[in-house]
Amino acid sequence: MCGIVGYIGNNAIKNTITGLKNLEYRGYDSSGIAYIKNNKVIIKKEVGRIDNLLTNLDYDNSVNIAIAHTRWATHGEANKTNAHPHKVGKITLVHNGIIENYEKLKEDLTDYSLISDTDTEVIAALIDKLYNKYSDMKLVLSKVTNLLKGSYALAIINDDIKDKMFAIRKDSPLIVGYDNKSTIIASDIPAILHVTKKYYLLNNYDILEISSNKLNIYDKDLNKIVKEENTYDADSTTISKDGYEHYMLKEINEEPDIFKNILDKYIINDKIVDIYDISKYENIEIVACGSATHAGLIGKYYIENLASIKTSVYYASEYRYQKHIYNQKTLVIVISQSGETADTKEALKIANEANLDTLAIVNVYKSSIARLAKNVIYTHAKIEVAVATTKAYMAQCLILLLLALKVNPDKTIINELHNIPNIMKKYIKKDYKEIASVISNYDHIFYLGRLVDYYLALEGSLKLKEISYIHSEAYPAGELKHGTISLMDNNVLVIAIVTDNKIKDKTISNIKEITARGAKVIAITNDNREFSDYKVLIEDNILIPFITIIPMQLIAYEVAKIKKCDIDKPRNLAKSVTVE
Ligand code: AGP
Repeated sequence: MCGIVGYIGNNAIKNTITGLKNLEYRGYDSSGIAYIKNNKVIIKKEVGRIDNLLTNLDYDNSVNIAIAHTRWATHGEANKTNAHPHKVGKITLVHNGIIENYEKLKEDLTDYSLISDTDTEVIAALIDKLYNKYSDMKLVLSKVTNLLKGSYALAIINDDIKDKMFAIRKDSPLIVGYDNKSTIIASDIPAILHVTKKYYLLNNYDILEISSNKLNIYDKDLNKIVKEENTYDADSTTISKDGYEHYMLKEINEEPDIFKNILDKYIINDKIVDIYDISKYENIEIVACGSATHAGLIGKYYIENLASIKTSVYYASEYRYQKHIYNQKTLVIVISQSGETADTKEALKIANEANLDTLAIVNVYKSSIARLAKNVIYTHAKIEVAVATTKAYMAQCLILLLLALKVNPDKTIINELHNIPNIMKKYIKKDYKEIASVISNYDHIFYLGRLVDYYLALEGSLKLKEISYIHSEAYPAGELKHGTISLMDNNVLVIAIVTDNKIKDKTISNIKEITARGAKVIAITNDNREFSDYKVLIEDNILIPFITIIPMQLIAYEVAKIKKCDIDKPRNLAKSVTVE
């Protein structure tokens, strides 16, 4: 998703670019910066990586106001004309979000000759037109809130007011960081940490008027508001690779410590503490997107098997539009690493509007979803930079297991939890390059499993395809013979997750049906028997899903390395999908 940064203070160009680079992980295809120098607004924008923007950039350290943007194309292709910032008349701005009524608004802006395909340029024209009428930016932004439909986080500079920057948000994330000499606004925490750890969270329609020594925040009725101060509790090294080749590899290596930190936080003297009690519910609906949905399925497995509560899992983009049959004994759990995913946020609003109890399992502190839900449990996985989630997914699975253990504190499982970090470390140390080289030769791969192994297969398949660009799909092993087995031939590779002792013999039978038709099979399994062409052997364990995810993640990583893909920032992807 797009990222915006705005900065007022010393060395504005350098500080804005540093912030922008710390938003790269959100995914983008072009970037740009605007700054005020010698009383003029200078704009530079380029397609591709931020490094293209930095070539021949004028790092004049006397500049003290700048705004910048990374664009993930929604309206109009990735080219310089559509890249932000957009300048119309006196207004220059950058935007994260989607304006749903921009074509309608354009009809009333015929006195402007717009040159891009973007909704953002329409916003700039609208603000310029209103400013020419009212000459008061705060009043203009208040009026804009009644005209724009959709989502937006805007950072704005005005030719007439060269010592100020303005901002406003609705549904797209925006925070404001400050210290005694500068103010920085950005889409996410990583973009401000090189300047300050102190920040305010902004609500919808908050209007910011920022000068070098003053930050005023107003509501949409232009009443001045005072915000609660927040201090980010980790050091700014959190957003460095710490010597690893990729953020994804660093974050996989962090998993054992994160697992342990979560146990330390939520298990005291073998008692589950500070975890929401789900025992009173008859029905749980878990709603999420992507990998968070796959974590939800692991949650279903544990909640149904340990707490005996009926649990259903839904993709948020489907859930939003389906028929809902609720009773007041329903709990809706939303899971989101970023806490900003639009579909998940809208699904949560449906549950809130139905007056249901809601629980958010979120990684980003005080993110929109965390603030919207009636209850929240943080995953404490620290900042996750790689677009392909690993440690946050694992943390989500662990929190869901703890929810189940809160209801049924199975001693054997609670004891075994403490062994998992060291076991994870063992499998992180193993070498998966050979198996990855086999996989890298195929264009079509199926991940198979049954029940919890199928839920793991879904995540393994998504990890592989999103960073290596190899077509892959996960399938319930028992379902294959109902059609899809027609695809099995020697051009296909199957990766079978075979760890659930209660059901693995059935999966092994399916594997034999597959090998009989020429497809090669890699088994990720705790079973020593010979039933596949290749095997990644993992030790049996009552909590084996938490072990299995390590080889699955590292295999995907090694394949993507062989394919020379952009592992931390895969093409077309965004870390936080704040649009629908
Ligand atoms: C996972 O590797 C993907 N990047 C993606 O599926 C992600 O899990 C999904 O977009 C949900 O994001 P969220 O957890 O921030 O809501």
